[in-house]
Amino acid sequence: MIGVFDSGLGGLSVLAAIAQSLPDADLIYLADTAHLPYGDKDDALIRSRVLKIGHQLVDQGCTLIVVACNTATAAAISALRASLPQIPVIGIEPGVKPAVAASKSGRIAVLTTSSTARSERLARLIRQHSGAVKIDVLPCPSWATKVETLQLDDPGLTESARQLLTPVLDAGADQIVLGCTHYAFLAPLLEPIVAGRAVLVDVADAVSRQCLRLAGTAARGHGRLTLLASAHPERLQAALPALGLNRLAARLTGPARLSTDCTRPCQTEKQ
Ligand code: DGL
Repeated sequence: MIGVFDSGLGGLSVLAAIAQSLPDADLIYLADTAHLPYGDKDDALIRSRVLKIGHQLVDQGCTLIVVACNTATAAAISALRASLPQIPVIGIEPGVKPAVAASKSGRIAVLTTSSTARSERLARLIRQHSGAVKIDVLPCPSWATKVETLQLDDPGLTESARQLLTPVLDAGADQIVLGCTHYAFLAPLLEPIVAGRAVLVDVADAVSRQCLRLAGTAARGHGRLTLLASAHPERLQAALPALGLNRLAARLTGPARLSTDCTRPCQTEKQ
């Protein structure tokens, strides 16, 4: 079984890619809706949530974990890998490397949460891959919340996205990296703003290819999907058709359930 998690709906964009690459895998998706958005939380809180959820998914039988959240990856993937050495843990990072490789203008922009924007992990990624390319990191506070409330064509958001992107587009940016998994669902709103000048870069497919490589026996199952949420599970399930994810909905074996944190020491913590 493969466990995939995010603060809320954003990781569903990654889950959809994984489900397509691994049609027979049994998948659990956990949305930590009681604690979203992660993007305005401090690292200690994000780390404690990520460790709890990772262990919870392992307790439920997952042998591969996907942190389908750039913010959680930046703040806590090292800690999660250290605490779950027995299984592969895949994270997601903004697609700086492919965007730099594809840029013809030598300028790109990365859209992220506030937490990812200030993270050492993103700074390191940029140092490693920027070369001669100029990179603007643009924090987008409140965008993830708009996605959570399914305000995907909100005029206020369109206007603030236009204001945010126009200066970097005018400066020649030709690759706009979606550095938060929630923003994949804003592509229809962002496309017309960047059209003819830049392309949007999303790395969900790259994550799904990595899953395919590391899944091992987790690739074999019955193609089932279980949805868990730490608050309002019914909203998570209702979001699937609203986000155009009917194929995921078809894999559901039952209604989304409320997930409660481990109240006993998790197996790996006891060792
Ligand atoms: N979807 C998450 C990310 O990729 C975080 C959104 C949030 O909770 O702020 O960063």
